[in-house]
Amino acid sequence: MISKVYSSCLLGLNAQIIEIETNVSYGLRRFEIVGLPDKAVEESKERVGTAIESSGYPSPHHQPERVLVSLAPADIKKEGSIYDLPIALSYLLADNRIKFSPKGKLFLGELALDGRLRPIKGALSFAQLAKEKGFSELILPEENAPEGQIIKGIKVVGLKTLKDVIDYLEGRKGVPSQNINPKEFLFEQDNIIDIGHIKGQEYAKRALEIAAAGNHNLLMIGPPGTGKTLLAKAIISILPPLSFEEALEVTRIYSVAGLLPPGKVIMGQRPFRSPHHSSSEVALIGGGNPPRPGEITLAHRGVLFLDEFPEFHRDVLEALRQPIEEGKIVILRAKHYSSFPAKFMLVAASNPCPCGYLGSPERKCTCTISQIRKYRRKLSGPLMDRIDLFINVPHVRYKKLSSQEEEGYSSKIREEVIKAREIQKERFKGENFFVNSEIPISKIKKYCPIDSRCQDLLKRFVDSGKLSARGYHRVLRLSRTIADLSNSEKISFDHLAEAVSYRAKDIYTP
Ligand SMILES: Nc1ncnc2c1ncn2[C@@H]1O[C@H](COP(=O)(O)OP(=O)(O)OP(=O)(O)O)[C@@H](O)[C@H]1O
Ligand SMILES: [Mg+2]
Repeated sequence: MISKVYSSCLLGLNAQIIEIETNVSYGLRRFEIVGLPDKAVEESKERVGTAIESSGYPSPHHQPERVLVSLAPADIKKEGSIYDLPIALSYLLADNRIKFSPKGKLFLGELALDGRLRPIKGALSFAQLAKEKGFSELILPEENAPEGQIIKGIKVVGLKTLKDVIDYLEGRKGVPSQNINPKEFLFEQDNIIDIGHIKGQEYAKRALEIAAAGNHNLLMIGPPGTGKTLLAKAIISILPPLSFEEALEVTRIYSVAGLLPPGKVIMGQRPFRSPHHSSSEVALIGGGNPPRPGEITLAHRGVLFLDEFPEFHRDVLEALRQPIEEGKIVILRAKHYSSFPAKFMLVAASNPCPCGYLGSPERKCTCTISQIRKYRRKLSGPLMDRIDLFINVPHVRYKKLSSQEEEGYSSKIREEVIKAREIQKERFKGENFFVNSEIPISKIKKYCPIDSRCQDLLKRFVDSGKLSARGYHRVLRLSRTIADLSNSEKISFDHLAEAVSYRAKDIYTP
């Protein structure tokens, strides 16, 4: 007899239906899986056989029968152990050991040898697919159920063992009703730094506020120990909260990457990713086969912080250029595209030179000109052109350093940021972008009009080569954010002048 059970695989962040067909016929004992299985799927027959036996049914390995399992469509590579449960059910169904209707049901789960179900990655994506494709039930390991239950309109059943699944399917076991409140499961990071704990650096703090309000990229340059890393970490405390839709997007990524902390179901806070400077291109951008999300995708809707920026490998930095512009990364593997979202705020930090004290009034720089030039090479060129705010983070004087900490500073700034974001949301109603940094070039004239005095200022910068065409557009978007922060519909000369001042790339040019 032939049986058909439905399961699913992940292509990037999106799930796709996989049909699992099993044919059991009498003959020489054999158990075969076809349809581009990888090693883990191949090994599934061993796990499945033992798990079936542990659940009280005769193992296919001890029967005089030929079992053929086919995973379709055959041109997608099937990887991992998530098909254990559907393969086991499909076999038992084909062998007439159990009876249920597989129609409308999607199964996923790895089996332990004793029949227990082990948790899987990507439950949220599977639940979304199940709903989209009109399935009525998603059956998976107990630990993954709350994550799937975030999606309304589909019954998500979490069970402990293969035996429980069979009992449920044959009507001997009920399941608890699902009425989770996603808010209860919200995962919040702790250790958030309040900006008020960072002394001085008012200029940098203002720049952070602007960056957060319009989602602009920024680079901080300054001597060692002046608070650059601290400032970058504090950005999370002034960014607006994630909307529910954004939280779902971020959660889907973390779920597929297997990075959701145990017991947590939905990401409640913007991600902050800080990859080490020795990271490879694949680690940062994503890739591998099958493709996995990289740091830029894990930073989606949050912050990608590149500390010690000039220490990153040149090709790694170059590879960032395209995703920064497009807000996504597309990876092509054989026949399939995997697209990962990557809308993040790039925050970078660097010393001005290898010794760190170039331009410092307090200490003398000991680097040679050629050392500085070599170090600075990565701080120039196309990637730097994508940065909107260049900020000097100087040494802090003792008087400031020993001053009283300002409590609740971050929440005050955050309120301003949220107000500016509200203005942007209202302005961009009906558009497919939400923040100033994403205004496409074709709409810049419409959303960032400037008067003739402002135009003269920009003309001087562009004609003297200090602003590239991209820089010109970036300055206009930045001035839009500065105007929004002061609740001004018009971009004034002061707003534009402030925006231009942040583009002064030549801090401490040797
Ligand atoms: N402005 C500041 N206010 C309060 N503490 C500060 C400030 N700047 C630095 N510190 C203290 O110094 C430590 C190091 O700061 P941080 O790591 O941010 O420096 P940095 O600028 O990133 O240095 P480096 O260039 O060496 O990476 C902080 O943990 C904090 O204790
Ligand atoms: Mg640092």
